[in-house]
Amino acid sequence: MQLHETIPNNVELAGDRKLLRALEQWQPSFLEWWRQMGPESFQSADVYLRTAVSVDSSGWAHFDYVKMPEYRWGIFLATPEAERAVGFGDRMGQPVWAEVPGEYRNLLRRLIVTQADTEPASVEQQRRLGQTAPSLYDLRNLFQVNVEEGRHLWAMVYLLHRYFGRDGREEAEALLARHSGDPDRPRILGAFNAPIDDWLSFYMFAMFTDRDGKYQLLALAESGFDPLARTTRFMLTEEAHHMFVGETGIRRIVQRSCELTRQAPDGDARRLGGIDLPTLQKYINFWYSVSLDLFGGEISSNAAEYFACGLKGRAGERKYDDHLALQGSYRMAVPEDGRLGEQDVPLRNAMNEVLRDAYIEDNQRGLDMWNKTIAEHGIDLRLCLPSRRFNRRIGLYAGLHFTTQGEPIPQEEFDGRRDEWLPSETDRAYVRSLMRPVREPGVMANWIAAPTKGIDGKPLAYDYVRLA
Ligand SMILES: [Fe+2]
Ligand SMILES: [Fe+2]
Repeated sequence: MQLHETIPNNVELAGDRKLLRALEQWQPSFLEWWRQMGPESFQSADVYLRTAVSVDSSGWAHFDYVKMPEYRWGIFLATPEAERAVGFGDRMGQPVWAEVPGEYRNLLRRLIVTQADTEPASVEQQRRLGQTAPSLYDLRNLFQVNVEEGRHLWAMVYLLHRYFGRDGREEAEALLARHSGDPDRPRILGAFNAPIDDWLSFYMFAMFTDRDGKYQLLALAESGFDPLARTTRFMLTEEAHHMFVGETGIRRIVQRSCELTRQAPDGDARRLGGIDLPTLQKYINFWYSVSLDLFGGEISSNAAEYFACGLKGRAGERKYDDHLALQGSYRMAVPEDGRLGEQDVPLRNAMNEVLRDAYIEDNQRGLDMWNKTIAEHGIDLRLCLPSRRFNRRIGLYAGLHFTTQGEPIPQEEFDGRRDEWLPSETDRAYVRSLMRPVREPGVMANWIAAPTKGIDGKPLAYDYVRLA
């Protein structure tokens, strides 16, 4: 079969010989990468997966059993908006670009490569999880997320091949040559270099880290480079499911934790093989803080430049009144000699922080849902997001130490209280000890509650993955 027949697309691949040839050369490397670095041990299983087949909102996806290496990785751009104009920055109101503007070529390439690198990275990080899935339903959801991250890689590689010539082809190769955690050629962003080897971490990743991805995509969906805006807009359709997997995964763990807390004679869910709420809080503190780092520094001239050039906007740019952002400022807490002062930062330089704010608000909505579950069980504890200053490696607060409430403290105090706030080795070992595969349709591991419904109208006890 020809590549343009195996890769569903709405970019008229069949009519673009040059692009077709470039992608035909890249495809075998991609498949080799998927076999080597994709989900371990499940390459020949039949998985009930959805595949994007169009951008029509009423019927964009098709569900069926697929072996993952045969997944139809598609290239889809959202429907173009007629007479779309740049919506922010110095080029505000000018027609959007259908080709890469020469003066922004390097900036745009960097933006696209940084986004693209996270897609295969997460597949690599999660490659061993299939062996310990708490149910077939969860196993299928993991693989759905994995193949869609693979498709997102195709979407980004399409942009590189189609719009960046030889440089783009080299970048596309490099995306398969860097690997998560590889000491010589690591992935670009720190959070994508640690393996994810337990399911609690997987749901936390899908909730917090993948949600960073959602906000980056929302900001790129505003781009004046129209092919990028349209590609990322369609990726967001799939991303919604990834958020769902994370948020409901943790909600189910919270529910089970509450049930076991009430059953245990001393109120400790661990005695009955559950994940106790205090441990969940520590995992939240960890994954939320490493994910906050992905937004970059609070004060950023790169962010200002991307905004000025019309390449990367704010999430939902339309809801803001002032699209030039030349006037306002953003007041932020700035460390000064071990204390916190305040500084007014010109708005364009604070764009990372503006995006981070939208992200934080979205996370809080998820936590409110989990807390509702806890309240329904009559338990007093509430889960919360730590301060944005807690445990940061990038930006103003990096290298300093703060309580989860955001109060500056000396390093010795932080070191002394670290295990109170972040998962200790004992916590991690305990969580890992729970990770045993459950492969009977409809049955859940003891530490997680069943979801409220199945996938695509199928019953919970459906065989979502047929093991070969
Ligand atoms: Fe993605
Ligand atoms: Fe995702």
